[in-house]
Amino acid sequence: MANKLFSSIKFLFYGLLVCSSQWLFLLYSDIAFPQGSIENGKTKAAVCVACHGVDGNSINPEWPSLAGQHPLYTAKQLKSFQDGQRQNILMNAFAISLTEQDMIDLAAYYGSLPNIQRGADPELVDLGQKIYRGGIFEKNVPACIACHGPSGKGNPFSLYPKVKGQHSIYTINTLNAYAIGTRYSDSNEVMRTIAKLLSQEEIEAVASYIQGLK
Ligand code: HEC
Ligand code: HEC
Repeated sequence: MANKLFSSIKFLFYGLLVCSSQWLFLLYSDIAFPQGSIENGKTKAAVCVACHGVDGNSINPEWPSLAGQHPLYTAKQLKSFQDGQRQNILMNAFAISLTEQDMIDLAAYYGSLPNIQRGADPELVDLGQKIYRGGIFEKNVPACIACHGPSGKGNPFSLYPKVKGQHSIYTINTLNAYAIGTRYSDSNEVMRTIAKLLSQEEIEAVASYIQGLK
């Protein structure tokens, strides 16, 4: 599936239309993306609600919210659990039996749901904001904003996930998983390299800041 799903990105078709008023419009055609069915995804998600919430916003902070996430990113993560590029005893068991179509449908369904806003810890917000928006110059840590965006919405075309509002405990866990390499779903080791450079205090601060992003 990895090949079929992700080679489709190559076929992303951008058309540039120059109008008489000198405005440029970037037209994006999604015909090459595999089509997910939100309706079928909803039915298939019956087994996921216990952990990821009835509306895709989970209650347990160790279980990530999936609501509003970019579908291609979500589908890629399900494939990563199936292939072992992400290790989690619960998720590996759930992903093992999913077909490519299941992953795409589930991802389409979760992507269609609104994500809940959460707050940041006021004591951590200054350090978290500094890292997220400016990186850490002395340690070559890039600003998270460069890929995850000013409000944490990410970028669906580059497979940069939406991070805003995510439970800080999950974010701490997943940054630590990148740091020790048990999560290696990131191409070019982009997140593994960054996470290894962060101290525990810095991880906690940036995770809290992300949780509060609106
Ligand atoms: C028993 C609880 C449980 C169930 C049921 C469950 N999950 Fe998960 N899920 C988790 C946990 C815990 C994680 C975080 C794993 C980690 O830290 O890597 C996770 C992570 C994920 C992620 C990664 C999110 C991200 O932001 O990268 C996706 C996608 C996901 N689950 C989808 C599903 C789908 C779809 C189903 C149903 C087929 C499902 N899960 C069922 C517990 C569960
Ligand atoms: C060069 C681009 C880039 C930069 C800079 C970057 N990220 Fe990422 N980030 C990614 C990509 C790509 C992924 C998805 C990788 C994968 O599929 O596992 C990701 C994934 C993540 C995830 C996992 C989200 C989830 O739902 O599981 C977190 C958390 C995260 N990044 C936090 C950060 C933080 C904090 C910073 C700044 C210190 C940062 N990122 C900087 C590209 C970037």
